[in-house]
Amino acid sequence: MSVKALKGFKDILPGTVETWQRIEQTGRDIFHRFGFFEIKVPILEKTKLFQRSIGETTDIVEKEMYTFADRNGSSLTMRPEGTAPVLRAYVEHALHVKKPIQRLFTIGPMFRHERPQKGRLRQFHQMSVEVLGTNHPMVDAEVMGMAWLILKELGLSVSLEINSLGCPKCRPEFNQALLDFLEKRADKLCLDCQRRRLTNPLRVLDCKSQHCREQYENAPSILDHLCPDCAEHFSSVKKNLDLLNVPYSVNSFMVRGLDYYTRTTFELLTDNLGAQSAVGAGGRYDGLVKQLGGPDVPGIGFALGVERLALLLEHEGLSSEEPQVDCFIAALGDEALARAFVMVNALRMRGLRAAMDHQGRSLKNQMKQAGRMKARYALIMGEDELEKGEGILRNMENREQQNVELGGDSSAWSTMIKKILV
Ligand code: HAM
Repeated sequence: MSVKALKGFKDILPGTVETWQRIEQTGRDIFHRFGFFEIKVPILEKTKLFQRSIGETTDIVEKEMYTFADRNGSSLTMRPEGTAPVLRAYVEHALHVKKPIQRLFTIGPMFRHERPQKGRLRQFHQMSVEVLGTNHPMVDAEVMGMAWLILKELGLSVSLEINSLGCPKCRPEFNQALLDFLEKRADKLCLDCQRRRLTNPLRVLDCKSQHCREQYENAPSILDHLCPDCAEHFSSVKKNLDLLNVPYSVNSFMVRGLDYYTRTTFELLTDNLGAQSAVGAGGRYDGLVKQLGGPDVPGIGFALGVERLALLLEHEGLSSEEPQVDCFIAALGDEALARAFVMVNALRMRGLRAAMDHQGRSLKNQMKQAGRMKARYALIMGEDELEKGEGILRNMENREQQNVELGGDSSAWSTMIKKILV
């Protein structure tokens, strides 16, 4: 029996990979425009990095991490998200000393042991950014505007929901209000919520059970409990989003699935992906760098889910196609084949996508192959043509043909063919 890929782990095949490349190129291009630099961090980290940052009572840490002991018995985890590893690297290499404000992005796979479904995988990919060293509300709006622009340039429209989760000053007051509310309903909650109510009350609002969600419909709103500084910050974030013409709505029940957030949080949502409506999400985490042993600097960031963006592009009929071959050389006979071998190489050295059939099958078969490769042109070389020192160049779209001189050296005719093709 053949060995298959793991459940929730997907191969990205040619034909789909081109859409992924476009997503990543658009992301990289826009990240660069906004002054971000790429960082690459390991896939494996010490488990305590995620326990300390994402939070012990989150679904991710409690239920979804790929954690195992390595051969020395150390507990390792395959990164379930990118923020903690990027911040670990920021602290480890003292990047704040080089520049007071750092703008970093990373693109790569993440791992969560979730129940796979459309748009939800166990290995998935994120393009994520982090801005470290400033808590200015303009930056919150700028970062959300950047996410917005990526989606716009991809041709997608989504909705942006924002919230503020306050800070360690105002959170206790809100927690108390939430606790009072939950106490009256404790027996109606799922076991997870009953437990989390006592350890980390905010987490209950992230419960996925429909029954619990119904219970929380009239829960107190964090926005009614923000301290004056947080209220002022949130109001300024909204004003700055208005200045950038980025439309948004406020959702005071959005708590996000990770514990490190403070103040601004946001999600980019779509109605076109079934249950997995978030194509991207992020927020501010002003205490996290310090918590990870670094300086007391604020930060904000977000991650876009590449699989979900690719699905959305497909849904909108905006998938990218495999690149076309510029010129397929169909050669008939050993001498023509040997000639084609050198010509294909010369065309490639001139920057063209060139291909041939090394088996030298019938002309009909070779033209079929050129068609499958969506070749723009085919250069046909049989024995007769070779004797005359020429080939037939066929435009595969309109079927027009012209004879081309193939005498002289490879530099001369490959330059001539390039001129016709571009
Ligand atoms: P997150 O909300 O856990 O945030 O994930 C961000 C995005 O990753 C989601 O909106 C979704 O598009 C995608 N995603 C998450 N889980 C899956 C999955 N199982 N399958 C497919 N796609 C998925 C974070 O990870 C934060 N680190 C974002 C951040 C960066 N906050 C600040 N900086």
